[in-house]
Amino acid sequence: LAMAFITAYKGVVVHSIGFGSLQVLQRGLIGATEAGKIEFVHDLDQIDIDTIAFDKLVDYGNKLLLPGFVDGHAHAPQYSFLGIGMHLPLLDWLNTYTFPHEAKFADVVCARSMYTKAVSRHVRNGTTTCSYFATIHLDSCKELVDIVESIGQRGYIGKVNMDRNATPELTETTEQSLADTASFIEYVLEKEDDLLTPVITPRFVPSTTSELMYGLAELSHAHSLPVQSHLSENTNEILWIRDLHPECNSYTEVYDAHGLLHERSYMAHCIWCSSDERALLKNKQSAIIHCPNSNFSLTSGVLNVRRCLREGIKVGLGSDVSGGYTTSMLDALRNTVIASKLIALGHGSNKEPEDIQETPLSYAEAFHLATVGGAECLNLQDKIGNFVPGKELDMLVVDLQVDDSPVDEFEHDDALNRFQKFLFVGDDRNITHVYVRGRLVHER
Ligand code: GUN
Ligand code: FE
Repeated sequence: LAMAFITAYKGVVVHSIGFGSLQVLQRGLIGATEAGKIEFVHDLDQIDIDTIAFDKLVDYGNKLLLPGFVDGHAHAPQYSFLGIGMHLPLLDWLNTYTFPHEAKFADVVCARSMYTKAVSRHVRNGTTTCSYFATIHLDSCKELVDIVESIGQRGYIGKVNMDRNATPELTETTEQSLADTASFIEYVLEKEDDLLTPVITPRFVPSTTSELMYGLAELSHAHSLPVQSHLSENTNEILWIRDLHPECNSYTEVYDAHGLLHERSYMAHCIWCSSDERALLKNKQSAIIHCPNSNFSLTSGVLNVRRCLREGIKVGLGSDVSGGYTTSMLDALRNTVIASKLIALGHGSNKEPEDIQETPLSYAEAFHLATVGGAECLNLQDKIGNFVPGKELDMLVVDLQVDDSPVDEFEHDDALNRFQKFLFVGDDRNITHVYVRGRLVHER
């Protein structure tokens, strides 16, 4: 019986082993098979390297070895107008910039070029798993799937559904929307590569008729697929939902009434959800993707993340490109910390009389959400999020001493200092290698 070929990576390992709880191995050694499965994680201060069995050593010296980031919510087509339109609130931003731009993705050639740049940029910033919205266009959606596959990122990818309240170019018939979604699912599932997962992706309630939502829920159940959408992002959006669905008590209830809330559902924003709505999310085991850059940029509001976590709701982080203006999950982490400071200062959205004084989120807590938290939202907690034997090796190699580093380190900086400097001051220049399931997918 042939033994698996094991590569051992040596470096300063930092990963999250619980909410707010980091493990730091100053002299860490992570072993992984060729298939990318983690075989061991050792502390070389505790065990002699000569007693460990492996076939090849990759010595990253004093560099940090971190789990890859999970971006729980990004719009691949919106990358090409990143940073534009940040002066508008959600509904005006959608009509002025987003819808006209997404219409261009009817052209597959244009999609191929823009999607290649988008996915490359996410990966370069250390996002090893990304949950993407594409557009309504089936052929361009397949193009995105092929690009994510060839670049080697772990991708949750959705064909967007829109059969009401959109511009004519972005309006599908209900039948076509469901048929194309079925084709899209088949296309992704037929790939050998299980790094790719098709996601049911109704844009948001105003964009999808009841009939379409019912049909999409059926598809999600028939194939056990995840569901992603937007929920309770903006106060004018919520007023619109009330007009569209007077039969439901809340925005969250609309998704639930149509069968779209279950343990594989994760909803972006959820800023203004009432305690009843949050209880519904919790009971359905649906997750929240916190997108603080977008929430600030589109003046949507400030989510109280700690309250959601205390109530038992799964929370991950998202860039929400390009409601948020960067693909960087380091930025998502920083804005998560800043949003939590506003909450602690009493400036959160949707305050309730029973609210308690919150403490801000620590860097370790925000890092947990950006890695393990996101993995939980996508039901990938048994595969990724941290370095645990049996999981798959999605790893970043971080060097604070690259020539063009935006940060300096000093002799007195220990591993945790260096880690914090990377989180708050570092950027893609410091991310020298990105691995997905043990395969090098980016190198500077
Ligand atoms: N709600 C519906 N569509 C969108 C979108 O593209 N971005 C954001 N942030 N919210 C939405
Ligand atoms: Fe979004």
